[in-house]
Amino acid sequence: MLYTVLTATLSAFLSVAWTALAEEATRFGHAKILQRGSQIDEAYDYVIVGAGTAGLTLADRLSADGKYAVLVIEYCYPISDETIARSDGRNFLDPGISYNISSIPQVNMNNRKQAVIIGCCVGGSSAINGMVFVRGTKPEYDGWAELGGPGSTWNWEGVLPYFKKASHFNPPTEEMARNFNVTWNPDVWGQDPANKLYASYPNYGIPSIIPFYKAMAKMRNMPIPEDGASGKSGLFWNPTSMDNKNYWRSYSRTAHFDGIARKNYHIITMHKVKRILFNGTTATGVQFSPRDTDQILTVIAKREVIISAGTVHTPQILQNSGIGPKDLLQQAKIPVLIDLPGVGQNFQDHAFLSVNYQWGVGTGPVLSNITQSGNASTIAGPNLGAWIGLPTMTDDFEKIASRYESQDAAQYLPKNTHLTVLAGYRAFKKLHAKLLRSTDSNWLWLPLFGTPGGIVMSMHVVSHGTINIDPENPDAEPIVDYRALSNPIDMDIMVENIRYMRKFLKSEEFAPWKPTETAPGIEIEGEELREWIRKVLIPTNFHPIATAAKMPKEMGGVVDEQLRVHGTKRLRVVDGSIMPLLPGANTQQSVYMIAEKAVDLIKAEQR
Ligand SMILES: Cc1cc2nc3c(=O)[nH]c(=O)nc-3n(C[C@H](O)[C@H](O)[C@H](O)COP(=O)(O)OP(=O)(O)OC[C@H]3O[C@@H](n4cnc5c(N)ncnc54)[C@H](O)[C@@H]3O)c2cc1C
Ligand SMILES: *[C@@H]1O[C@H](CO)[C@@H](O)[C@H](O)[C@H]1NC(C)=O
Ligand SMILES: *[C@@H]1O[C@H](CO)[C@@H](O)[C@H](O)[C@H]1NC(C)=O
Ligand SMILES: *[C@@H]1O[C@H](CO)[C@@H](O)[C@H](O)[C@H]1NC(C)=O
Ligand SMILES: *[C@@H]1O[C@H](CO)[C@@H](O)[C@H](O)[C@H]1NC(C)=O
Ligand SMILES: *[C@@H]1O[C@H](CO)[C@@H](O)[C@H](O)[C@H]1NC(C)=O
Repeated sequence: MLYTVLTATLSAFLSVAWTALAEEATRFGHAKILQRGSQIDEAYDYVIVGAGTAGLTLADRLSADGKYAVLVIEYCYPISDETIARSDGRNFLDPGISYNISSIPQVNMNNRKQAVIIGCCVGGSSAINGMVFVRGTKPEYDGWAELGGPGSTWNWEGVLPYFKKASHFNPPTEEMARNFNVTWNPDVWGQDPANKLYASYPNYGIPSIIPFYKAMAKMRNMPIPEDGASGKSGLFWNPTSMDNKNYWRSYSRTAHFDGIARKNYHIITMHKVKRILFNGTTATGVQFSPRDTDQILTVIAKREVIISAGTVHTPQILQNSGIGPKDLLQQAKIPVLIDLPGVGQNFQDHAFLSVNYQWGVGTGPVLSNITQSGNASTIAGPNLGAWIGLPTMTDDFEKIASRYESQDAAQYLPKNTHLTVLAGYRAFKKLHAKLLRSTDSNWLWLPLFGTPGGIVMSMHVVSHGTINIDPENPDAEPIVDYRALSNPIDMDIMVENIRYMRKFLKSEEFAPWKPTETAPGIEIEGEELREWIRKVLIPTNFHPIATAAKMPKEMGGVVDEQLRVHGTKRLRVVDGSIMPLLPGANTQQSVYMIAEKAVDLIKAEQR
């Protein structure tokens, strides 16, 4: 098998024959993409795996001062300009720009499978996401630090500077702010003129959203923070990752790749990284192949290999390199370089479903035409939502928290879970029992669109899944198992989410419009409601995390506080997979923050 190559000495480089494409500048609307993949060198200072959200951010920053050569290797290719302009996320299912992966059947979802949608293009998932640009709350990032151990700098104070660095905030227009109660705290945002990753608001609003704002503001104990980005829960407006000059998507490619012509920043597309090359346990380069071929190519990394392949593929690359759970590697006949049981474990994602409502015939708020100059098709996900702690949702929070606390930690984890992974889950559980009782941790996201009913999303899950290689075919797509609802607490919380939506729709603001619940139907409760949840639950909002979690090795962690893979040298993971627990927020802003913080961690070792 190809695998023998791993053990071959590094001096035995295969000659790299590249099609000599002329360095080509392609016009992409207002911006230029230079395709630099034409000829790669034998060695680079940094080799980055994956030109996604984190990968391009790193590549831009690490190449900026011109001192270090950076190569990014990407399996996919740049997408068209049109896709950026449309920017409303409707390309989620376009087979051309996302991976074609399906989970294994989920036993607690009536054996349904779930499409695992992740971006396949230069820009990765930031190119196809819903553009909602939010952060989690202070206790959630403090939890990242708690799980990291004493002295961790991943607490709220330690991540805030990197959140500020990661984007360029554009406040809403005065009219928008006045008409729709949009407030913000400039102290928690950055506005570096050189940063082209924009966080902006649309310049118009839908009047029918106003009664929703009013009704939510009146819900019991509903906090209304000046700005959710200051690490608070409650009802607030959030920006989208959008350039407010042309209302186009702002993403890792437009911010950290387009228009950047540097001799020391190379990207090669349509090539798949198969494994990391080592001398002992020191990473020395990577082995990769042109897409869909077995041709073997290698490149040397003089300083570091950085894996930014995202939560689904990062564990695959590690496992195929001999870093992962020993039993699994042996089953796949992969020589064990480092027995690291946490690789591919701890997998978490947000879970949601839709509770459908309709207004009585001939009633409802006046539906808008666009009231100001703007274009509906340029706005993406929702900009207004309620992000709610469990004690704000229900008086039963204490019952749920103590029920969770009294569980045996091993009870709902996969059989044969390694003792270190179990130790990590114990720490996670202790932390989550605390978060369940906190009004400052987001357990429910209820986006407000100005129409009745809609999405209720669980922003924390206590069921942990796995993403592992298929031992029969380690180079094929990995086996994704959400293990959705495997812990019954997640079901209890989803029931509370639905009840909260029902309470909300009973608000006096809506009474004249006679809302009716069409699915599941207001009479559906108890075991029937649980049955319905199993039928409709979507166990992902495409926010996968934690398969290379930043935790100590003895707690089932994969990377240390500097994001270095435990037991290795010169190998880091920088992407969504390092998050040890979900932020109560969509994940892109946290990924950009992680990349910005990683840049400083990497630079600290350049001396
Ligand atoms: C449909 C969808 C909607 C979303 N909506 C939102 C939203 O509204 N708001 C929000 O905040 N977040 C949202 N997210 C989540 C957010 O976009 C992701 O959390 C984030 O972009 C992940 O960044 P990443 O760097 O970890 O991985 P990615 O950006 O996915 O990058 C990984 C890159 O690695 C490449 N790669 C993988 N394996 C290999 C290999 N072996 N060799 C070479 N290259 C490889 C991939 O092709 C990809 O380009 C959404 C995601 C999706 C998919
Ligand atoms: C996706 O994968 C499935 C099953 O492996 C296959 O049947 C289908 O044709 C694939 N779709 C695309 C667009 O490649
Ligand atoms: C703004 O907030 C105030 C106070 O909560 C409320 O009365 C008003 O209706 C809100 N306006 C809009 C446009 O949501
Ligand atoms: C591997 O590392 C050792 C110790 O640093 C060094 O002596 C040796 O030359 C290296 N081997 C290769 C093939 O680079
Ligand atoms: C919206 O536009 C249509 C067509 O121009 C018009 O008939 C309708 O009255 C408008 N509605 C509102 C609420 O402005
Ligand atoms: C809005 O944008 C879309 C896509 O860019 C375009 O097709 C459409 O014509 C625009 N509509 C208006 C009213 O400008």
